[in-house]
Amino acid sequence: MIRIKTEEEISIMRENALMVSKTLAEVGKHVEPGITTKELDVIAERFIRSLGAEPGFLGYEGYPATLCTSVNEVVVHGFPSSYKLKEGDILSVDCGTKYRGFYGDSAYTFPVGKVSEEDQALLDATKASLYKGIEQAVAGARIGDIGEAVQNYCETRGFGVVREMVGHGIGKNMHESPEVPNYGRRGHGVKLKEGMVICIEPMITAGRKEIYLDDNGWGIITADGKKSAHFELTVAIRKGEPYVLSTFEFIENNK
Ligand code: MF3
Ligand code: CO
Repeated sequence: MIRIKTEEEISIMRENALMVSKTLAEVGKHVEPGITTKELDVIAERFIRSLGAEPGFLGYEGYPATLCTSVNEVVVHGFPSSYKLKEGDILSVDCGTKYRGFYGDSAYTFPVGKVSEEDQALLDATKASLYKGIEQAVAGARIGDIGEAVQNYCETRGFGVVREMVGHGIGKNMHESPEVPNYGRRGHGVKLKEGMVICIEPMITAGRKEIYLDDNGWGIITADGKKSAHFELTVAIRKGEPYVLSTFEFIENNK
């Protein structure tokens, strides 16, 4: 069942989305060689609580942290740890909040110091594909329109599109229907209606698309060991144009 949100609910979800967006920017200020992903997690948890919200991921289905910090070949769901970031790494930071009964959820992949041209191209393509997907997210379109836009953008540039992990509806639960795959066919899948709120989150690889599950039961890792990027924004479905609730502007205007 797909839960349609009222305007009031969407305004609470917008508050969540902005809190997540600001938390990612706060974390981003500290992303540099030498810091550990656990230190970033502490920064995020404090920041979220200082805003009067709660971490959305901590304790969610037993997840042990505020952030998912996924370095290089880790696609998503990396645990914060004593790993010290090093120059040239790429770091996906995925963050959630819970506030006034609703969830926020957004992710950004940061370059650590100077990264290779190849890695920068992966980051650029993944983010651009997210915006291509968002363009499709309007009332009357279908889930497959989003998937096809993301897939087409990435695959024509030689990148891999992870199939096993997908975007999702969001609301009083972090994961609601419908699923939002990053692949698909135009005109297929669930029809988007006003008041749906979805997270679009391409998980894109520099090499092959296959992944495996880490021994810890959470981490998703590329099978070929090549790097992967992940960007996520939350979109409310409207007529005419998408209403993007979360934003990367706090991250990108900080630099
Ligand atoms: N952002 C992730 C997603 O979209 C949520 C992480 S799940 C958690 O599915 F368990 F790590 F919290
Ligand atoms: Co998500």
